[in-house]
Amino acid sequence: MEYYKNLSILGINRLEPHSTSLSYSEREAAASGSRKRCNYFKSLCGTWDFFYAENKYEVPKGCHGVEYDASDWDTTPVPSCWQTQGYGIPHYTNSVYPIPLEPPYIPDFNPTGIYRTEFSVPQNFEERKTILHFGGVNSAFTVFINGVECGYSQCSHMPSEFDVTYMIEPGLNLLSVEVYQYNCATYLEDQDYFRHSGIFREVFIYSPPGESIDDFYIDATLADDFTTGILNVRCQTSSGSKIRYELLDSIGNTVLDEEIPAGTACTFQIDAPDCWNAETPNLYTSIVSLDGKDYRSCKTGFKRVDIKDGVFLINGKPVKIKGVNRHDTHFLTGHAMDRSTLYDDAVLMKQNNINAVRTSHYPTDPYFLELCDEMGLYVINEADLEAHGFYYDDPDYDVSDKEEWQPHFIDRAKRMVLRDRNHPSVIMWSLGNETRYGRNHLAMMDEIRKYSGNIPIHYERAENREGPDVVSIMYPEISKLIEEGNKDDKRPYFLCEYAHAMGNASGNLKEYWDTFYEYPRLMGGCVWEWVDHSQLTVDEDGVMFNGYGGDFGDIPNDGNFCMDGLNYPDRTPHTSLLELKKVIEPVKVRALGDSAIKIWNTNTFRALDYLDCTVELIENGYTVSEESLDISGIGPGMEKVFPVPFPVKDDSECCMNFVFSLRESTAYAMRGHAVCKSQIVLEHETSLVSINSSGEIEIEENGRWLYIYGDDFRIVFDRLESRLADWFHKGVSVIDSGPEPNFYRAPTDNDMTRMKKAWEDLGLNRMFGRVEDFTVSLVDDKALIHTSVIQSCKGQKPLFKVVTDYTIHGDGIMDIVTEFNPLRKPDYIPRIGSAMKLPLEFSRMNWYGMGPHESYCDRRESVHLGVYESSVEEQFEPYERPQETGNKLATRWLSFSDIHGSGLMIIAENPISASALLFTATELASKAHQKDLVHDGSICVNLDAAQTGIGNNSCGPETLEQYRLYPRYEKTSLRFIPFHRSEASEDELYRLNIRKN
Ligand code: GAL
Ligand code: MG
Repeated sequence: MEYYKNLSILGINRLEPHSTSLSYSEREAAASGSRKRCNYFKSLCGTWDFFYAENKYEVPKGCHGVEYDASDWDTTPVPSCWQTQGYGIPHYTNSVYPIPLEPPYIPDFNPTGIYRTEFSVPQNFEERKTILHFGGVNSAFTVFINGVECGYSQCSHMPSEFDVTYMIEPGLNLLSVEVYQYNCATYLEDQDYFRHSGIFREVFIYSPPGESIDDFYIDATLADDFTTGILNVRCQTSSGSKIRYELLDSIGNTVLDEEIPAGTACTFQIDAPDCWNAETPNLYTSIVSLDGKDYRSCKTGFKRVDIKDGVFLINGKPVKIKGVNRHDTHFLTGHAMDRSTLYDDAVLMKQNNINAVRTSHYPTDPYFLELCDEMGLYVINEADLEAHGFYYDDPDYDVSDKEEWQPHFIDRAKRMVLRDRNHPSVIMWSLGNETRYGRNHLAMMDEIRKYSGNIPIHYERAENREGPDVVSIMYPEISKLIEEGNKDDKRPYFLCEYAHAMGNASGNLKEYWDTFYEYPRLMGGCVWEWVDHSQLTVDEDGVMFNGYGGDFGDIPNDGNFCMDGLNYPDRTPHTSLLELKKVIEPVKVRALGDSAIKIWNTNTFRALDYLDCTVELIENGYTVSEESLDISGIGPGMEKVFPVPFPVKDDSECCMNFVFSLRESTAYAMRGHAVCKSQIVLEHETSLVSINSSGEIEIEENGRWLYIYGDDFRIVFDRLESRLADWFHKGVSVIDSGPEPNFYRAPTDNDMTRMKKAWEDLGLNRMFGRVEDFTVSLVDDKALIHTSVIQSCKGQKPLFKVVTDYTIHGDGIMDIVTEFNPLRKPDYIPRIGSAMKLPLEFSRMNWYGMGPHESYCDRRESVHLGVYESSVEEQFEPYERPQETGNKLATRWLSFSDIHGSGLMIIAENPISASALLFTATELASKAHQKDLVHDGSICVNLDAAQTGIGNNSCGPETLEQYRLYPRYEKTSLRFIPFHRSEASEDELYRLNIRKN
């Protein structure tokens, strides 16, 4: 039987796993840890010959042989995934297996990729060993050197190494690799992602001396005083015993230099080392050497993890996990991640105040862990194991209990721990994801504890059962968190996944974090997930787009469920990442009445001395002055009260903006990088100033149409539709059509679960009005129009009665007061407000309200009140599946103008939610990809009294009760002013038209 079909074969000639290290011949080179300075390392990455066989019968005979002529084969980059290179198809499926459920059998239709390359072995490898390293190959592979089989391995996300010393020859050698899309352990790799195949991590050779270090374990922890460092060092050699261990500090000074015996753990004490934690990731360098010939090194950080009375502690201090789940995924290269993308990911996480990453759902490239050590990110390191497609109660599929699967469970745990246990960043091991908790998991835990006894274990599927050291959950309700927070349990409570960031999502992060902060047992958690999975592709017309499940003829698939990241596929942040950055910020600011503010340092380890603080005074949305605030000396977890630093004016609306920025450059951001921003709004109630304008008005009624003429304007009403049909002011057309009641939004990914259907059943996307009353009068040089309209749709009872009063003043200004009266109370609805259309030329959009990015009532922490200048085009957040976007809460005024400066300004007596897009909601709702959207031809504006929150329902709880908009009485009071920028600015118009109550 082929190896890959044989459940009892986990590898052939595969070397024992060990910590990531190269063999150096010089101490200084080893200390640098730089591959470039390693004389015994050679990368084999590059362009290889490639043959794609649909099944084993298509594999060319003799293709691994030296005589075989592969000159007509294709070439492919190594590392890469073959589906991203045009072989097979990208296939996205969540839990449904891409193969029949017949463990351990796999389909005969098992595509096989043959890779060939030639390499020469550097001369200085002679007389030494040559080890061939594969960082990751999906799913299993057989290796041949010069036509001779030299090994086999499986487990996609773990390295495999083979000793090829006696197989290589001087001069060129042929390396060929046969990679199988499926092997029997594919049943253990049912992760939710694109199912890509191939050699997706690096391949290299390296050369330890004949007598060499096989592995070393550096366990740097702290004594019970949390001050004294304890170092446990153990080194395994092939033979030879004179081992020297050195510990260097961050500038290369020797802290410890000792001889140690091979194979025995030695313990040393270090006086008051600089400890490692995610806030201050202090690192030392360990150098282990054998007989002055084999030098190995790694970074070492003194860190201790404890669980005490149900609280998760790092270095004796309670820490909250401000984490994200991260997959290896890239929209061009699939699972193959180059070092610069890994680096960018770590930097972007740190820049967004993230302090932890769960390597969902397999160990990532070890280079990423080096970055986590260096930049300060806690790692929840997860074993490559998920059998989700079996679900949790079918005995036929019980891989978690069946003995024949146990070696695989153990192997996956052992290879992860032995590779990664030297990294200070690792704070928890995870047994994998979404596989029924069984005996084989217990065996995994024994294995992990054998090799890494002091790092806690997490496993979500264990639920409350004994075994893991923390209790872990996915996507709980806040109420569940409160209940768990109140429990007297000896184990901490961890959210391995929450706030599913699919599309316009991740509502109520604030409530999650208020709860985490309140209960010591709650450890925090990891948002699902870091980046949208996608594969860039082209349609029939040659238009490029981000493909998701189903775009490739991939069946079965889970559509856009893979596009659920805090970042777009190209790693541009979604607005949900901006919100997360804010909610988990290290400094929180609160107002204490009108005259004082309180600053709270949420850090665990460091005082705020590393930050500068500036405070700006904002009047009616514009910055008018700036001060700096001395926040030094506010220790971790401490608060300090400051008096308000400005005298506050009465004639404007005032806010204070606090910006906290880095004093010094760090590994992840330059000096001046804004770590967090806060705003305090000094409440200010306003009303519209009444207008006493002169100017003759004439009214003409003509059937369906009502004409209103003034000195400089002409307005047309449509009585049938009960709305403004035309409005010319000083020769400029200022509307395409006037406000109409609107209760609909294009469903977000969260709305798709339940509310899309509820709202369509209610007919919210196809409402129209019956005019109950339409009265026109002319009073004191003002035209007054009073309308009352019943809103309903075919086949449904009426939903709202909308009463609107238009006042047209002699100077052409129009006030529109709209009252929304619910006629029945079904489930909650998306919005209550009006929609109107403006001429496309008015594409410049400015507003005084929340910004700069979109905000919703349950996702409003990261936006601030201000005047923002933008364009209508920029209002669209490019979610790949189009949906509701661009809402601006608390809008006081907004204006639309053309390149000449003519436009329409809208002032709200009480703040509204506003948005403007080039698309209607029904257009957004009808398309699967943004490339297919068709511009409406007008600017589509929403002026809402309120909108329902965003919630987390694509995979998690619905919008919280307090953020659901049930049909209720609402009123908007808006003033529409045609304006020209050369005559008055928006700020001047606002001051003229609004007064403080
Ligand atoms: C979780 C799972 C993740 C992902 C997520 C939904 O249940 O662990 O892998 O599938 O749901 O996006
Ligand atoms: Mg799953």
